[in-house]
Amino acid sequence: MSPTRRTIIGGLIGGAAVTALPFALRGEPGSRPTAVPDPGFTRIANQAALPAQFSLPLKFPPVLRPTRTDSTTDYYTITAREANLTILPGMSTRVFSYEGSFPGPTIEARSNRRVVVTTTNQLPVPTVTHLHGGHTPADSDGYATDLILPVGGWPAAPAHATSHTGHMGHAAEMAGVVAQGTRDYVYPNKQRAATLWYHDHRMDFTGPQVWRGLAGFYLIRDSVDDALPLPEGDRELPLMIMDRSFDANGQFTYPSADPTLRTPGLTVNPNGVQGDVMLVNGVPWPFHEVKQAKYRLRLLNAANSRRLRVSLSPSPSGGKAFTQIGSDGGLLAAPQQMSSIYMVPGERFDVIVDFSKYAAGTNVVMTNSLGESSTNKIMQFRVTGPASDSSSIPAQLSTVERLDPNQSVRTRTFTFLNTSRNGKEVHVINDQLFSTGYIMADPRLGQIETWEFRSSTHHPVHVHLNPFQVISREGGLEPEDAGWKDTVRLTPGDSVRVAIRFDDYAGKYMLHCHNLEHEDMAMMANFQVS
Ligand code: C2O
Ligand code: CU
Ligand code: CU
Repeated sequence: MSPTRRTIIGGLIGGAAVTALPFALRGEPGSRPTAVPDPGFTRIANQAALPAQFSLPLKFPPVLRPTRTDSTTDYYTITAREANLTILPGMSTRVFSYEGSFPGPTIEARSNRRVVVTTTNQLPVPTVTHLHGGHTPADSDGYATDLILPVGGWPAAPAHATSHTGHMGHAAEMAGVVAQGTRDYVYPNKQRAATLWYHDHRMDFTGPQVWRGLAGFYLIRDSVDDALPLPEGDRELPLMIMDRSFDANGQFTYPSADPTLRTPGLTVNPNGVQGDVMLVNGVPWPFHEVKQAKYRLRLLNAANSRRLRVSLSPSPSGGKAFTQIGSDGGLLAAPQQMSSIYMVPGERFDVIVDFSKYAAGTNVVMTNSLGESSTNKIMQFRVTGPASDSSSIPAQLSTVERLDPNQSVRTRTFTFLNTSRNGKEVHVINDQLFSTGYIMADPRLGQIETWEFRSSTHHPVHVHLNPFQVISREGGLEPEDAGWKDTVRLTPGDSVRVAIRFDDYAGKYMLHCHNLEHEDMAMMANFQVS
């Protein structure tokens, strides 16, 4: 075994409130993996008293104000810190927050206008922030070991080094660019208008740290999007959807082997943690009053591992519920009608819903047909009454440059497999556990490549730095494949090919499964752009 290869600690030590479903699969890397139906997730049973569904109003995270601006740049400060927030009525939940808010405050950025976020870590653990969907230079991309250590201090190497068991010398392997307490992230925003989000990306601990609350929206706007007659203002709704569970005292329950988040690993099978409470913008099953008018919904699946298939119930008269106008990487060329949207963790869908198709007084539920009894409903829209609406959905939304697969200089294959090592379930890409020192792909700046993702079971695959275009899928392209993507779903036995071009920034970046438990259990790889 290579000295840079990681072994995984943290096995099955059981958990009272936990249902671990069986899970065993094998496959030979390189060959077409055998389709394995959903191996099942670990569901954490909620123990806290819950509000009735659709009894709490939807909230929106505050829009963060810059501390200063100049001709090129907006400057922000964000402090990551613990906070006690009321998520469940009458209870206080201790969260990991950005600026005391869960979700974190929304950053509003302009295309080609720089944002600098001075981030201070007052959490009890290291953190690192990644801007998901950002076209970001490597040193600000939030590489998993580029940690910001707590201002309050953090024991040197040994505590973190335990994340890589089995060999000496891993401290050097681990060493990212570590900041003491605070650092700046610089985002050039040299990209189209799009719905992005920022979240923790700490090596081995992204699952628990996002679960505790480290996620926020980052919206990039541009003149193309501004010029369209789309719904705006209070008819534009960013909706961060996630599942959680709470203990009897209202605290987030997550099956960390070490609740202090020093030693990685779970007390349960690492196939993905799920809760049975649906939150939208941090509110359990909220309701929101809407007029009989068009609304723009920026949907984000921010769950650790839960896949969603959302639709509206009742469906509107005469037509499909959603008109999709944008995907991960911004506006589509032309809108498409969808009656449901399959969203895997990390994906965004920018959609218009026309509530004028409903009678006043109608309660419209956003449902999740992939959910269970409590997670099959997400939120409710209450259609109040008429309103003027000058918005419209143009037949042509934007120009989407097509990456020509014929210009691709090479094809690389990435096989995502759940397997076992030394009796432990692990998740590998091309038979590799993640190691900071192993470069799986070395694309050249400016070149287009074809990347083929294969899998035995469900994996939402995410690539940093550049968006891509899905060019083929076993069984045919899906509507959700449209436009510029940075996260794509792989289903059992799937093979998906994408065209991707490596623009502007050289350096080492990550690609990984966005099931955060898979990611923490090593389903991550490096590519080095030069
Ligand atoms: Cu949203 Cu590398 O992740
Ligand atoms: Cu990302
Ligand atoms: Cu996965």
